[in-house]
Amino acid sequence: MLIGGGGLIAATAVLASWRAIETGMVLTDDAAFDPWQAWKQTAIGDPYALVAAAILASSPHNTQPWLFKVTDRHIDVRADPNRNLGAMDPFRREKWIGLGAAIANIEIAAPARGFVTRVQLLPEASDPDLAARIFLQQGRAVPTALAAEIDQRRTNRSAYDRQRDLPASVIDSLLALDDDSVRTVWLPATGASGTEFARETLAATRLIVADEEMSHDGHQWFRSNPREVRLHRDGVATPTSGIPAWLARISPLVPPVDAAGAGQYWLRSTERQLATAPRFGLILVRDLYDRKLQLLAGMRWQRMHLMLTAEGLAAHPMNQLVEVVDRDRQLKRHSATAQTLQAWTGRSEWRATFAFRTGYATQAMPHSARRGLAAVTVS
Ligand SMILES: Cc1cc2nc3c(=O)[nH]c(=O)nc-3n(C[C@H](O)[C@H](O)[C@H](O)COP(=O)(O)O)c2cc1C
Repeated sequence: MLIGGGGLIAATAVLASWRAIETGMVLTDDAAFDPWQAWKQTAIGDPYALVAAAILASSPHNTQPWLFKVTDRHIDVRADPNRNLGAMDPFRREKWIGLGAAIANIEIAAPARGFVTRVQLLPEASDPDLAARIFLQQGRAVPTALAAEIDQRRTNRSAYDRQRDLPASVIDSLLALDDDSVRTVWLPATGASGTEFARETLAATRLIVADEEMSHDGHQWFRSNPREVRLHRDGVATPTSGIPAWLARISPLVPPVDAAGAGQYWLRSTERQLATAPRFGLILVRDLYDRKLQLLAGMRWQRMHLMLTAEGLAAHPMNQLVEVVDRDRQLKRHSATAQTLQAWTGRSEWRATFAFRTGYATQAMPHSARRGLAAVTVS
């Protein structure tokens, strides 16, 4: 019996170390995370410093759908035609929100690296992949509080403290960003609309999980072990998915799950995420499918997330509802989800293009991987 038990332990240990080697758990190099350090070390007056900041921006499923062309006078931000979420983002609406987030990081990083910028969105009608041209002038380097948050920001998918709502002053400062193009709505999680948001987001998650094409296409960007993370340097990986830190450490030992298995896990974690958040928010524009408004919404999200980070608050986009609206439009189905969303905006001409939760996190979250400058700059 003892010998049998020992043999089992030995066999398990051998298997575990084999999987550890196979999945890359035992490798120590972590170049996939170097970009988070690299931005800090960039020089004043170097335009590539701004690209180093741009690549740390948020993007849907960490697809990093961007390419950059750097000259002495400007930086072009381009959509990478090869990187998208397929049926999860059939109109590439989220992709362009991600491009907006990268543009915001350039704007916010610029003063800290001695640049004055002028941003022109969609500068050439004949070049639809050109999202922005950002003109640069050398100026005095002025460190700013927001630029200092660029390498601190991350998506936190852990449980939040439901009892601790955002200070009213924080919501006020975020509402002050509202303008004629992009507005926000803030829903207390325990109020009627917050409760409905949670219920409907869970229902939308179920719809997505049951939609094989959406599930499959989303799963293409899931990285189930460190070897995959090192190889691709993109996507959402297990350690940032919101599971407890101890489980994240041993997760490379667990065989990879398929799209259906990941879907079930996603449903359970969505339930927990919704049940613990004190606040939900919506970013609104007048037209979901207008490229410029998509960029402006992404610029707003990135800035808001940096501001929340500066206040010690965590944030987590939860876009299942709007993803279902896109899918309904693609399949030409009646969209009950679009009508539900509309009820919360309170203004008939405004549409929700981005949803999130925010609050104080119960668990710190690691950064996600990034491709380096060589992979994202073009001549
Ligand atoms: C347009 C857009 C939509 C997103 N939607 C979701 C979402 O529905 N669920 C989620 O967990 N994260 C979502 N995210 C967050 C990204 O997955 C995250 O930014 C990316 O994995 C990089 O990680 P980081 O924010 O920690 O740097 C979204 C981000 C963007 C820009």
